[in-house]
Amino acid sequence: MDIDVRPVDGARFGARISGVEPLALADEPAAADTLRRASVDHHGTLVFEFGRMLEVDELNALTAVFGRNEFAPGMITGYGKGSVDGEEELTVDEQVARLKTKGIDPYLLFLGNVNPRTEERVETTEKFFGEWEWHTDMSYIPNPPTFTLLHSRQIPLEGGDTGFCSQVLAAQTLPDELRNQVQGRRIKHDSTYSSNGALRVGMTEPATPIEAIGTYHPILRRLPGTEHEALFLGRRTNGYVENLPLGESEALLDALWAHATREDFTYRHTWQLGEVVVWDNRLVMHCRYPVDPSETRFMWRTQTVGEAVVSA
Ligand SMILES: [Fe+2]
Repeated sequence: MDIDVRPVDGARFGARISGVEPLALADEPAAADTLRRASVDHHGTLVFEFGRMLEVDELNALTAVFGRNEFAPGMITGYGKGSVDGEEELTVDEQVARLKTKGIDPYLLFLGNVNPRTEERVETTEKFFGEWEWHTDMSYIPNPPTFTLLHSRQIPLEGGDTGFCSQVLAAQTLPDELRNQVQGRRIKHDSTYSSNGALRVGMTEPATPIEAIGTYHPILRRLPGTEHEALFLGRRTNGYVENLPLGESEALLDALWAHATREDFTYRHTWQLGEVVVWDNRLVMHCRYPVDPSETRFMWRTQTVGEAVVSA
């Protein structure tokens, strides 16, 4: 496989990659190593150019280079899906086989305002395509997903860019005063709201961030097996620094967020059809710019199995 890796234009991290044949990766360990190395070198932000749409198996094969394929939420019992009458006895493998007979891929999530079967536009709320602020997906669980892949199937004429923000650069340039304050400290990552700012099902708004329900993770993390440290902030809403009075926690978080989202740590990706962007949630935060709801935007998403956050 003749893989070409080159830095993206206009940013201090991220790479564009071409020449990859996803279904051949399993038999070419050197090619897979090249991609994993590129991810580390370019702060976990890779844009793959294929010049065509991928098949589901191809996206799953590319995902497998970066970790173990994670089931999409709500597909398999225990993976965001409750037990269903008559299915209590089914093993995971049996559930996967049953989905496949129905033509459903258990790893694939559909994102956007399109009916996945007909690929025609469906009506959405204003909020659905509003701005999604900087965040890391699902950081409120103990083992947040490591890699996320998005494959663009339909893109709007304008809008809907995805922003990335290197938390490796943020850690490298963290002022000593802030570094001293975060050393050994943890943030509670709130589970109240989803990415578009809506209350999650079954959640009520906490009185203050101290009461919010979520998971504590180290603020400064290390990427095992690499030279990288990264800030790990999750999302700003209801964040709380463990054991600090609320006022001090808010002031420290404000200072950290102002630093972590500096313009020169960011890359704004304008999508081309058929691209796959792979990012490492351990190294970057992401955001989505608004889309006009009269336009269509349709993405396939896959993820890799998560892991506990390792303290720097
Ligand atoms: Fe997200």
